[in-house]
Amino acid sequence: EKPLQLGLAGLGTVGTGVYETISRNHAILEARAQIPFAIRKVAVRDLSRPRDVELPPGLLTDNWRDLVDDPEIDIIIELIGGTTEAYRLVKAALQARKPVVTGNKALLAEYGSELFQLSATMGVPLYFEASAGGGIPIIQSMQNSLICNHIKSIIGIINGTSNYILSSMELEGVSFETALARAQQLGFAEADPTFDINGWDAAHKALILTMLAYGTPLTSDKIYVSGIQGVQQVDFEFARKLGYNIKLLVVIRHHDDTDALELRVQPSFIPNDHILASVDGVFNAIAVDGDIVGETLFYGRGAGKNPTASAVIADVITAMRESLHPEHHTGFHPYDKERRVLNINE
Ligand code: HSE
Repeated sequence: EKPLQLGLAGLGTVGTGVYETISRNHAILEARAQIPFAIRKVAVRDLSRPRDVELPPGLLTDNWRDLVDDPEIDIIIELIGGTTEAYRLVKAALQARKPVVTGNKALLAEYGSELFQLSATMGVPLYFEASAGGGIPIIQSMQNSLICNHIKSIIGIINGTSNYILSSMELEGVSFETALARAQQLGFAEADPTFDINGWDAAHKALILTMLAYGTPLTSDKIYVSGIQGVQQVDFEFARKLGYNIKLLVVIRHHDDTDALELRVQPSFIPNDHILASVDGVFNAIAVDGDIVGETLFYGRGAGKNPTASAVIADVITAMRESLHPEHHTGFHPYDKERRVLNINE
């Protein structure tokens, strides 16, 4: 049987984790999936940059078009980040009938409606488990395990960097700047950590979860976003005295009476005995309340090389399995129900 061929675009923190894990666990992945596969090409921006990982000669290219144009490549993994080149790459790959795996939440928040539409029209799936919650299997769970539920609310902590910063400030008394520098060293923060700090990384993920839960087109102008940039030690002192902790919370709530959605991201006081109050460090936790299942809680590492690689590879395996039965792919199908989003003051 001819092995399926993967094209990996991007060899930053997550791309390196994906390459290393696939190389190390190749035999076990093939045995579990029962599909032979190989990484055929890896696209990077700068060929001369020193790498942490050793690659066979001839694998690298500095042009992602080499992946899309290669007729031998069956599946594309987009981990280049940003929204300009990544948008071009994902669009070109779908148009070339190659299923795409991406972890790019900013891309989906900005261009998701168009890309999912293209994916549906072409019948070529776009997988995005790594775009929210890092290693936590939240996306496939919402698409599959929780499919029968009307989602009443999704409340959680979904930015690892800001949670790491808040926990370090709270538990160790370190300054905001020191905690951020550590999060960057540990590979949790984005290349440019602005969106981690100002709440927009969490907002992008919230929009993806909203789209999954309600079929609502992604519209970033509708979500109220406030980040952790203003949080100071004195806020933790007050919180402590009152029996609270401070977390950057995402709240997505459906109001059944009006069919409206409440969407917000903001630093919030949480009572110490609430389960989310003890989610520390890089961990994320997402509480999903469904009308049939009741309350569920997803917990795990929300950022970092290996947890995110774990999610990407899960999608790669799904993509490979489904590429053998393309008529039944589980890629997201938008159903375009517009809903009113409540103003923060309502
Ligand atoms: N910078 C992101 C975070 C990475 O800290 O959560 C995972 O999406």
